[in-house]
Amino acid sequence: MHPSRDGEIPHRTELIRLAIGGDAPECSRMSGDPACWLHEHDDFSMTSALAPDLAAHLAANDQRIHEELFEFLRIPSVSARSEHRPDMERAAKWLATKMRVAGLATEILPTGGHPAVLGEWRGAVPGAPTVLVYGHYDVQPAEPLDLWTSPPFEPVLRDGKIFARGSVDDKGQLFLHVKAIEAHLATRGKLPVNMIVLAEGEEEVGSDNLAPFIERHRERLRCDYCVISDSSMFAPGLPSILSSLRGLAYFEIEVQGPSGDLHSGSYGGAVVNPATALARIVATFHDEHWHVAIPGFYDLVREWEPRVLREMRALPFDEEHFREEVGAPVLDGEAGRSTLERVWTRPTCEVNGLLSGYTGEGAKTVLPAKAMAKVSCRLVPDQTPDAIRKVLTAHVQRVAPKGVTINVRVLHGGPPWRAELGGPLFDAARRALTAAFGREPVITGEGGSIPVVGDFERILGVPVLLIGFGLPGENAHAPNEWLSDENFVKGMSAVASLWDELAGHRSL
Ligand code: BES
Ligand code: ZN
Repeated sequence: MHPSRDGEIPHRTELIRLAIGGDAPECSRMSGDPACWLHEHDDFSMTSALAPDLAAHLAANDQRIHEELFEFLRIPSVSARSEHRPDMERAAKWLATKMRVAGLATEILPTGGHPAVLGEWRGAVPGAPTVLVYGHYDVQPAEPLDLWTSPPFEPVLRDGKIFARGSVDDKGQLFLHVKAIEAHLATRGKLPVNMIVLAEGEEEVGSDNLAPFIERHRERLRCDYCVISDSSMFAPGLPSILSSLRGLAYFEIEVQGPSGDLHSGSYGGAVVNPATALARIVATFHDEHWHVAIPGFYDLVREWEPRVLREMRALPFDEEHFREEVGAPVLDGEAGRSTLERVWTRPTCEVNGLLSGYTGEGAKTVLPAKAMAKVSCRLVPDQTPDAIRKVLTAHVQRVAPKGVTINVRVLHGGPPWRAELGGPLFDAARRALTAAFGREPVITGEGGSIPVVGDFERILGVPVLLIGFGLPGENAHAPNEWLSDENFVKGMSAVASLWDELAGHRSL
């Protein structure tokens, strides 16, 4: 349960510096380099714990597995864009075929949106647990394209990193599960657990259709455990089990002024400018200490257990390195909190986009008719997207200046999540990760959201384990997204071991 034995783990900066044998600023760009701290410092005899038959299969098929992953990454399955609908279908079909070849009985099932891919293998010995592995085959839009060093849908392996949109989030992490299953079925003709793989195509747009899908297929999805790899490790060489995710409440705020754009000379000063009105509204979201100043915003926040905060503080986190990694002049946020606390344990209200008026080349004297802001709040237990919608809508209406009308539209949301760290699945994961990475996992938190995690717990009544194989600096959602090739390979090994560990036998 302890994230680290004091003094054993170097600071994250040090891990990354050692990973490339260079200075920290350089490291921030290279933090996934396979020449990581583990290579230099750890006893690799511990990593041989993957059963030899599975290890041999993965090694012998390494090239084919990589070629297949690259094929998957070449499909631009951008769920947010309607022009990519055919690509979404192509990706679902491609994945279904690979899951069938791996030995899963697989169907493509409709949802209210992009299809889900469901694979099953139910041949384990009586009494064996059933595990549901969830991942997503959709990816974020790749724009801005000109900032990619190589094209987003033409995967390349460079410096130990697989560069492509979706490599880490989440195609690579989903695919490593499929390949671990394939390793079991190809070498032994069976798995030690019953397996359900559910891949959705709408995670990056909020998973709105997945909870109804799980409800509808509740019987078929009945399982004992749920496992997800859609997150990151704390540092290179440091396997991690995720203990919390923030939730999300996403809004679009539209401010309407005059019925059409106006000449800013003829009308400016006499008509309220919606861009200025929106700027005023947005400026009321925080006080000068970066507390969210929306009345009622913190009402449902449950304080974190001191034990969790203590474990968080024991992690080897270096604020200065983090600052260099993000390239911001200083780090700042809610007063009185550390960076990790701010990102992992505190709710936020962020402007994600602002749109109004003339933004093209040169000058245009216009008083715009409309302004729009995309605003999303990250939530922590026990906040709910609906409670936040109520307080935010009321606040925006209250502070809006006269002369404009406001419309707040909900785009999507998902609840926050905190793990129960314990039980057979958690223990098996510790052993499997230790075997694959040569050291004990740390317990981490996460500021991002995976909306469906809470749904699995609520609807299926099962514990969810999050073991991710991304790394800091992996550029998820940004240009030059990458997945550490070493983590992809070790991830396959870790999840292949996990099923043996969970079933209680390490090898045949
Ligand atoms: N893989 C991420 C979640 C994540 C983010 C895990 C950062 C670990 C670190 C997931 O695909 C994602 O991006 N989720 C969205 C959810 C949203 C679109 C509903 C997010 O967090 O913004
Ligand atoms: Zn993801």
